[in-house]
Amino acid sequence: MDKSFDVIVIGGGPAGYVCAIRSAQLGFKTACIESRGSLGGTCLNVGCIPSKSLLNLSENYYKAKKEFNSLGIETNSIKLNLSKMMANKNKSVLTLTKGVEYLFKKNNISYLKGKGSISSKNTVTVIDESKKKSNYQAKNIVISTGSVSTTLPGIKIDEKTIVSSTGALSFEKVPKELIIIGGGYIGLEMGSVWKRLGSNVTVIEYLDHIIPGMDKDISNEFLKILKKQGINFKLNSKVTAVNVVKGRAIVDFTNNENSKRERIETDKVLVAVGRKANSQDLNLLKMGIKIDDQGRVHVDEKFRTSVKNIYAIGDVIKGPMLAHKAEDEGIAVAEIIAGQSGIINYDVIPAVIYTSPEVAAIGKTEEQLKEQKIKYKIGKFPFLANSRAKVNNETEGFVKIIAEEKSDKILGVHMIGSHVGTMIAEIAIAMEFGASSEDIARTCHAHPTHTEAIKEAALAVDKRPIHF
Ligand code: NAI
Repeated sequence: MDKSFDVIVIGGGPAGYVCAIRSAQLGFKTACIESRGSLGGTCLNVGCIPSKSLLNLSENYYKAKKEFNSLGIETNSIKLNLSKMMANKNKSVLTLTKGVEYLFKKNNISYLKGKGSISSKNTVTVIDESKKKSNYQAKNIVISTGSVSTTLPGIKIDEKTIVSSTGALSFEKVPKELIIIGGGYIGLEMGSVWKRLGSNVTVIEYLDHIIPGMDKDISNEFLKILKKQGINFKLNSKVTAVNVVKGRAIVDFTNNENSKRERIETDKVLVAVGRKANSQDLNLLKMGIKIDDQGRVHVDEKFRTSVKNIYAIGDVIKGPMLAHKAEDEGIAVAEIIAGQSGIINYDVIPAVIYTSPEVAAIGKTEEQLKEQKIKYKIGKFPFLANSRAKVNNETEGFVKIIAEEKSDKILGVHMIGSHVGTMIAEIAIAMEFGASSEDIARTCHAHPTHTEAIKEAALAVDKRPIHF
């Protein structure tokens, strides 16, 4: 077994496994350490991938049950088989995690199973399942240990009654009542899944709006749509305690404005109040590697930590905790180690919420531009006026394009509607090329497609939409 490598990557999630593959492509002798027992990190095992499987299947179930009959697709009674649905999800996860293992073999990457920590500038120690310690030498070390769920003070996640996203991806039966603490990405995606499968879902959010950080127009519209779908919201509310009594949870919360206290008894509670960097147990402090007050590893613009040959990427450093941002950092750092430039444009990182309809955003929000005193103009186009959305009965939502007032350069695009998670790629490319809204307005978009709503919103920036 090889004990000496050019690059050792600690953590096999989207940042780490992509970094390992790119390193190997660049000719480095590479190893990747992973303790979970399967590659792909949170994203593939207990995050993006299983949640998207359940989002897709629950949407199909809901449509078949509630919408098909009125559209001329008459079905007899539609029945949910949750264990089959979960089995399908688990199969998808297994296929993809095994796929990464195959890519490792194909690229000659050593997959070291166990928990890694840094013992010296060039030594990584791996402790395997049987507690056996092995040391490996590395010219370069990349930390990509990701993030873990957080909870609130005094609230203990038991993954049975009080769960994190991991538990909420594997309920054995549909909870009658589900309380979700936090109206962010995880809360709203998982809330959508269980609402469609039959739970009575209530989201308790600390702020007076959901999906903080997103454009307010989108956040308001999204809230309206989710309420229409039957999800209950308690905004401006602070959860003060969650206690489990005889397998049921009692949730106490207080309204931030009028101090009114409320209590709800429920079957399950999902705590979705964010994630934190997983930088513990790596021996970083002893190594003199700086960590900020949120536990994130401090890096410079080349992903270098305070030790020259040790790098960090992904959720464990600053920036949005998104798999695609982590993957791009994985590629960039391998190229930097190889002496290439490895640049990431952090102004053009899409964010998508995979609910129905989807939410997708990129670039600056209107609120950010106001704060930065940048002058802008806006073009908006509703899916109600898009022919393809109309025939598909997918008329909710809109496209909002924000362009710089004088130059017309696109500064941000915010969309809510079916398929916008895929459509945002067009905007990412346009922004990478420094496009103006006029560039999009003059680009031919296939008819009939949802993407025409983007072209129309671009025309609307100059007050000349055709179909609205
Ligand atoms: P989040 O940061 O998206 O949302 C957390 C929510 O909890 C916020 O709205 C916050 O105001 C609220 N909150 C915080 N403290 C609270 C309290 N005491 N009481 C009530 N509400 C409180 O975090 P989330 O949803 O846990 O997701 C974690 C990370 O995972 C995110 O950074 C996200 O980027 C990533 N993720 C991305 C997905 C995607 O790309 N589609 C899907 C799922 C997760």
